[in-house]
Amino acid sequence: MKVIVVKDQAAGGKEGFKVFKNALDNGAKVFGLATGSTPVTTYQEIVKSDLDFSNCTSVNLDEYVGIAPDNDQSYKYFMQSHLFNEKPFKESFLPNGLAADPAEEVKRYDKVIDEHPIDLQILGIGRNGHIGFNEPGTSRDVTTHVVDLTPSTIEANARFFASENDVPKQAFSMGLASIMKSKHLILEAFGENKADAVKGMIEGPDTPDLPASILQNHPDVTVIIDEAAASKL
Ligand code: GLP
Repeated sequence: MKVIVVKDQAAGGKEGFKVFKNALDNGAKVFGLATGSTPVTTYQEIVKSDLDFSNCTSVNLDEYVGIAPDNDQSYKYFMQSHLFNEKPFKESFLPNGLAADPAEEVKRYDKVIDEHPIDLQILGIGRNGHIGFNEPGTSRDVTTHVVDLTPSTIEANARFFASENDVPKQAFSMGLASIMKSKHLILEAFGENKADAVKGMIEGPDTPDLPASILQNHPDVTVIIDEAAASKL
């Protein structure tokens, strides 16, 4: 893993942007995208830039089950407002939170990923070390699946909702096996509450108990963290 420590999230966004630009300059066509507060500064840098994704495809990591795409808490809505409105892609895929048949939706999304192999995937990390919504204990062989969110993830994500009771209890998530197939990965983490997860990911044992530690086995990972997230290394 290549680890870049920056002062704060604003500086991290500039580093993340450089990785996107470099990938695009080198012919990347498929970008795996993430939601959450972490990638926001990277998306802001992209929006300010002249990068053009109109010939590219995006494939998002996850989506809540039971939330409509136009609901302002959906990950689809997040992507529209933080990136796609300003930087449209030729085509953008996310799991459909309202899919009538979740088993079919999982198959559809696996096909999307197979047909659009990801050149560059951006990731955040949960406080418990989850990536996408692959919670601790998730099998490393899984592709897209429906996840029961852990109490810690529900609590962490409650800040985006009116109350903790409004946070969906399940999500569709790309699996660890799908994430590991991306050619290049960036993982960003900012703030002290990510420091334990970052330490486990980089220095800890490679274990399903800390899903992000699987990245120790990937040949091309750039980790961008601020000083607070790096404070336990
Ligand atoms: C969420 C998302 C992840 C994200 C993580 C951290 O639950 N499913 O993709 O990386 O938690 O979120 P944040 O960036 O808001 O800290």
